[in-house]
Amino acid sequence: MATHAAESVSVDPLDMSRPELYRDDVWQAPFRELRERAPVYHTEHSAFGPFWSVSSYKPIVQVESLPDLYSSQAGGITIADLQEGDIKMPMFIAMDRPKHTGQRRTVAPAFTPSEMVRMTENIRGRTTEILDSLPVGTPFDWVDTVSIELTTQMLAILFDFPWEERRLLTYWSDWAGDIEIAKDPVRKDQRRTILFECAAYFGNLWQSRIGKEPAPDLISMMIHSDAMAHMDQMEFLGNLILLIVGGNDTTRNSMSAYAWGLSQFPDERAKLEANPALIPNAVQEIIRWQTPLAHMRRTATQDTELEGQKIREGDKLALWYLSANRDESIFPEADKIIVDRENARRHLAFGHGIHRCVGARLAELQIGILLEEMAKRRLRVNVLGEPERVAACFVHGYKQMPVELERY
Ligand code: HEM
Repeated sequence: MATHAAESVSVDPLDMSRPELYRDDVWQAPFRELRERAPVYHTEHSAFGPFWSVSSYKPIVQVESLPDLYSSQAGGITIADLQEGDIKMPMFIAMDRPKHTGQRRTVAPAFTPSEMVRMTENIRGRTTEILDSLPVGTPFDWVDTVSIELTTQMLAILFDFPWEERRLLTYWSDWAGDIEIAKDPVRKDQRRTILFECAAYFGNLWQSRIGKEPAPDLISMMIHSDAMAHMDQMEFLGNLILLIVGGNDTTRNSMSAYAWGLSQFPDERAKLEANPALIPNAVQEIIRWQTPLAHMRRTATQDTELEGQKIREGDKLALWYLSANRDESIFPEADKIIVDRENARRHLAFGHGIHRCVGARLAELQIGILLEEMAKRRLRVNVLGEPERVAACFVHGYKQMPVELERY
């Protein structure tokens, strides 16, 4: 067994919080071992302290179905604990009932099926514009040019954010969603400063919209809602950051997974190219295969038992969606993308239960339109080299991916 040079504490080879497992894309084997041997497993020592890894499908659904016993609020939603001096930004993903219910209801109207219909034309127009600007046969970075640009534009529209400054949303989101920062005091200070800038910027937008007629953007919805009307500044900021991070890295990394994943399975890509009617199912399958958020965390509110393991009040549990979505008992040949997989929709990448992703429909819509517009143009993405991956156990995705487009 290897040891930490500094602390001489032995490294648990099944400590799935280690960022290098994701940077080097080597998390598959240890998760398989956990699912087979110990689907609820305790890691004693990790950079984030002791925690339980819940790694197979059934116990994750069980935990998420008992939100009073397994709280989102008691310790937050990532494996990184809040520390003294951290800015406290309450957000409804990290709240329990009944407060969660009221705040979720405020933003849910932005994601109804009729809103999706209303947004479709706009999303298609922007996707078309980006795809038509891409070079064919010349290398470029798919992550920045397509995935980041499309998702950032979407957020700018959702918030009615000043268009020319929309990359600020990407910048803030990348800082907010990086839980590795919890280990680094210098970058933590930097993050605090950046998030205060974000708060000030949105504070100004908020002020400028108070007293105006209700509009369909999320800031206006929040201003005109009862549940959120009396929020203090940090709560307002927390909920905005939630929507920015929620809608940013996740959809972005699914779009990148489309390019990378299908290039790994050329037969499946050919199946999809021959039959575009498979696109809606392929979207689910790509989201399952990627699982853009590797985990959510829960904290036990009382002593209990899970899969025969004794969980104590206050214990931290990481629900590894990434592993559940590779659970062979639910998804045969789970490591493979199968574009017509019958039960692709059963994936847990959006979570389960009362906190299940409120933006799921919007994400599916955006990714679906991207695939449809690629198919219409008979464009294929050839990945030219190994992508650079995010080194983190929360956001599961790509930093860079050199590609070239080809017509088929
Ligand atoms: C919640 C994943 C896209 C906004 C969540 C959760 C997950 C998730 C795992 C937590 C579920 C749980 O605790 O059970 C994803 C993935 C996406 C995506 C994989 C894209 C493929 C979006 C988009 C938005 C969004 C586009 C909004 C613009 C939210 C919000 C919550 C949430 C506000 C909190 C819901 C609650 O606590 O009730 N998402 N998400 N997400 N997501 Fe998403």
